[in-house]
Parts: sequence; structure tokens; C-alpha cells
Amino acid sequence: MRTNKAFEILLVLFIILLIIPSAALSGNESYKTLFQPLPDRVDNPENPLNRDKILLGKMLFIDARLSKSGFFSCNSCHNLTTGGVDNLPTSIGHAWHSGPRNAPTVYNAAIHTTQFWDGRAKDVEEQAQGPVLNPGEMASSKELVLERINTIPEYVSLFKKAFPESKDPITYENVAKAIAAFERTLMTPSRFDRYLKGDKKALTSDEMKGLNIVVKKGCVACHRGPALGGNSFQKFDYGDDMGRYEVTKNEADRKVFKVASWRNVALTYPYFHDGKVWNLDEAVRIMGEKQLNTKLTDEEVHYIVIFLNSLTGEMKRIDLPVLPPSTQNTPHPDRN
Ligand code: HEC
Ligand code: HEC
Repeated sequence: MRTNKAFEILLVLFIILLIIPSAALSGNESYKTLFQPLPDRVDNPENPLNRDKILLGKMLFIDARLSKSGFFSCNSCHNLTTGGVDNLPTSIGHAWHSGPRNAPTVYNAAIHTTQFWDGRAKDVEEQAQGPVLNPGEMASSKELVLERINTIPEYVSLFKKAFPESKDPITYENVAKAIAAFERTLMTPSRFDRYLKGDKKALTSDEMKGLNIVVKKGCVACHRGPALGGNSFQKFDYGDDMGRYEVTKNEADRKVFKVASWRNVALTYPYFHDGKVWNLDEAVRIMGEKQLNTKLTDEEVHYIVIFLNSLTGEMKRIDLPVLPPSTQNTPHPDRN
């Protein structure tokens, strides 16, 4: 009798020991269908990466001579030292112009399936052609950009190296391609990626609580994939901006926006396309109400925000390149 009992207890213990790790594994495995780790870089066969192109892209990203005034670079609004954003409600561009929308981060943007809040550019190559010409941002022209570059011999030779297959490498399209190549390397893996790759201890128990809440509450219906967002359009009934409707003129697209990525969201305040919400707790509460029709409890918000903070990734150390000087023939800055 007694040995039977002991055997039973041992058997139960054995079964529990078998179940625990497989249960833990199945939680992690099912999250793998929702989220995927970030790659090191995002390739585009139409814009193959090479070292010279990435370096050239980095230089152009911070070179304010792409702007008419010689004052604004991509980095003015997508500051690589502050999470790839300007932390302003809406950005300031040419002649102190203030745009209608908040600047999203360039970190991990290359992995989104479209670019801009309304998805009007298909990839970072197409996107990078926009701001340089936008009168409220860099206010330049294709001719001015090419003239500035053509009068700087170091740039001329770097374009040749970056686009070896091209007979005439200095084109406006290639300016955008080089910048995009650099952006394709701006991935910021975090502890969450280590967790997805199998390191169960990579997240703290509070972060795990937050993760379980966002899964259970249904945030992940929209915030999923490697960027935890950035891969679908959804209605967000907030503010006056018509979002994707302005691009498609399709009634169903009124107030439809690209789902924002959660990567580095703790750094990219203020929130939403109008940058009106400064507090991450409040942004999470608004999401619960508008997107899930749920009033989240303070405790739920607390753990969700702890989880969101774990998505702040490692920003690669970016060495500031020395930019080549202008020459006598380089068109001067013009702030008008
Ligand atoms: C004056 C500020 C400003 C400058 C300069 C600027 N941007 Fe932006 N950028 C923005 C704003 C604002 C948006 C969002 C606009 C929208 O969605 O309508 C944006 C959007 C983007 C996006 C889309 C990200 C996403 O998640 O959809 C990328 C990528 C980007 N910019 C890269 C660049 C590059 C590259 C340059 C330089 C060639 C540049 N930007 C120059 C303000 C700026
Ligand atoms: C139905 C789809 C959907 C659901 C569900 C959803 N979101 Fe969102 N989320 C969006 C969209 C779309 C945006 C972009 C909003 C905009 O245009 O400003 C966004 C933006 C955000 C932002 C702001 C990011 C930024 O950089 O401005 C946060 C934070 C956020 N969501 C958290 C959550 C949380 C937490 C949940 C669950 C409680 C959730 N979301 C549920 C679609 C959704």
C-alpha cells in the first residue's frame, strides 16, 4: 500500500515535471506565430546593400546640404541619438514650417510593409525621395541636390563606389537608394528578441505579465509581426486627420492609419499621428478604449507599459562620418 502511494506520488511528480517545460514552451511557441525577432538588416533585391552604399547613405542622412537652406537633414527630424525622432508633437522644417504630423522613427522602419502614417510610400527607397522635395521639410529640388553633390568631388567618387553597376551613378533616385540602404541597417534588437529566440529569462516576470495582457486583451490583433505593428492599416477614430483616405479616396479608408510599431515606443514620445499625447500610459488607455472598447485597469496599463519599455532596443553605435567640404561651385544655402 505504502509503496503504491509513493509510486503514485512519484508518478504525479514525473508527469508535472514533463508538463511544466512543455507548457512554458507552448506559450513561447504560440507567441512566435504573433511576433518574430528582428533581422540584422532588411534586404531589398532592387537596392542591394554594400558597405560603400551604406556609408554614403549615412553621410547623406546627416548632410543638411540636401536641404535648400543647408540647415535641415533627415537627422533633424529623425535624430539617431534620440530614438530616431525629434520628440516634437509635429516636426519643424524649412522656414520654421510646422507640419501636420508627428515624425515616426527611422529605426526599424525598413521592416514595415509601407511607409508614412498613411502608407503612401511602398518602401524606404520611395519614402526617402519625399522629404527632400517637400516644401515644408527640406524644400529642395532634384536639380539643386544633384548640383550640390556633383560639385563635391568626394561625393562623386563615393557614388561611383556605392553604385558600381551604374554608368551615371549620381541620380536623385540613387541619393534615395543610398539613404534607404543605410536605413535598412537600422535595426534595434531588444531583450524581447532574445526571448523570442528561446531565452525564457530574457524578460522579467513583470514584463511577461504585460506581454500576457497585450496578448489576452487583443492588442496583438493589430500590433504583431517583427515590428509589433507596421504591417497593417486600421481605423483609429481620433482627431480630424483623414489618414489613408487622402491617399486612396476610398470611403472605407477614412481615419485609417498604419498601425504604429511598438519597437522603441518608450523613446518616441509624444504619441499618435498628431503627437498630442505625451504619456505612454495615456496612449495605452486611449488604445484600449478606441480600439478594443475596453477600459483597461490601472494595473493592466502598468504592466503593459512595463512590457512596452522592454522593447527599447540596442541602438548601434553610429560613428559620425566627416562630411566632405563644399567647393567654390557648390550652390549656397538659401533660407527663403
Ligand atoms: C522636417 C522634418 C522631417 C525631415 C527633414 C525628414 N522627415 Fe521623415 N518624416 C517626418 C514626418 C513628419 C513623417 C511622417 C509624415 C506622414 O506620415 O505623413 C516622416 C516619415 C518618415 C518615414 C516613415 C516612417 C514610418 O514609420 O512610416 C521615414 C522612413 C522617414 N521619414 C525618413 C526620412 C528621411 C530618410 C529623411 C531625409 C531624406 C527624412 N525623413 C526627412 C519628418 C521629417
Ligand atoms: C484595431 C487595431 C489596434 C488595436 C487592437 C490596438 N492598436 Fe495600438 N495602434 C493602432 C493604430 C492604427 C495606431 C496608430 C494610431 C495613430 O494613427 O496615431 C496605434 C498606435 C498605438 C500606440 C502609439 C504609438 C506611437 O508611436 O504613437 C500605442 C502605445 C499603442 N497603439 C498601444 C496599443 C495597446 C497597448 C493596445 C491594446 C490595449 C493596442 N494598441 C491595440 C491599432 C491598434
